[in-house]
Amino acid sequence: MLRLGRNDLCWCGSGKKYKKCHMEKDMKIYEYEEQGYVIPHYKMLKTKEQIDGIRKSGVITKGILDMVGEKIKVGITTDEINSWVHEYTISHGGIPATLNYCGYPKSVCTSINNVICHGIPDDTVLKDGDIINVDVTTILDGYYSDASRMYIIGEASEEAKKLVRVTKECMDIGIDTVKPYGGLYDIGRAVEKHAKANGFSVVKDYGGHGVGLDIHEEPHVDHYAKHGKGMLLVPGMVFTIEPMINAGDYHCVTLEDGWTTVTKDGSLSAQWEHTLVVTENGTEIIV
Ligand code: MF3
Ligand code: CO
Ligand code: CO
Repeated sequence: MLRLGRNDLCWCGSGKKYKKCHMEKDMKIYEYEEQGYVIPHYKMLKTKEQIDGIRKSGVITKGILDMVGEKIKVGITTDEINSWVHEYTISHGGIPATLNYCGYPKSVCTSINNVICHGIPDDTVLKDGDIINVDVTTILDGYYSDASRMYIIGEASEEAKKLVRVTKECMDIGIDTVKPYGGLYDIGRAVEKHAKANGFSVVKDYGGHGVGLDIHEEPHVDHYAKHGKGMLLVPGMVFTIEPMINAGDYHCVTLEDGWTTVTKDGSLSAQWEHTLVVTENGTEIIV
């Protein structure tokens, strides 16, 4: 965190002098640094205006996930889901953030069964018993929101249904650990504990991330247990929690397309994702 002088303008953009604005709160933050927390750069703390913008973007992302839930069924292709997402986004004034992102060719990620993440929509037809993650990232007026859900197609196996349920619980438990002046690593500890208690494993190669002014920002959010406290969670931080949970082993393999990431052992994988903001009293799920 940048150390400002008492009479400098506050970093938050309020136009007030630092001593009349965030100085006291920042002094409290420096005390946490001495306890072993990593302190976020002040640029990671979103202003009220930015959070409002991310919230509006989130309305589109939520609308898309609801719409997909109503239309998805046996027999449709992942390319059709891509068209639904693309057209909904554009018609609501947004831009699909994944399209052309680092060469990614589509407006959404669709990850079926053993695909962990970044599945690319194509002519694959959804069949009875499939489980699919649809991951939507929207830009509206320059603000990014990111969320994903699982959809069960027809009648899935008991194991698949349990994986989808437990993965949602992992996300919710991770979100419940988030509190102002808590530690980032509390999330991974709680998520991994619940996954392991159910006989599942947590993917280590991918995680959540800061989001809002760009698709992927700091901090990186691990969903497995790490030693230490990690970054201090400060009001205004916006990030995703998006555990990827495997029915078998946690190892990943990325296919030749450079994106599609599957379980090494061929087991099923599930993922749920929310974007949230740390508030003075707790957490707000943005989408
Ligand atoms: N929405 C994804 C995430 O949760 C990012 C997808 S980037 C893509 O981080 F290029 F793979 F689409
Ligand atoms: Co994300
Ligand atoms: Co996402």
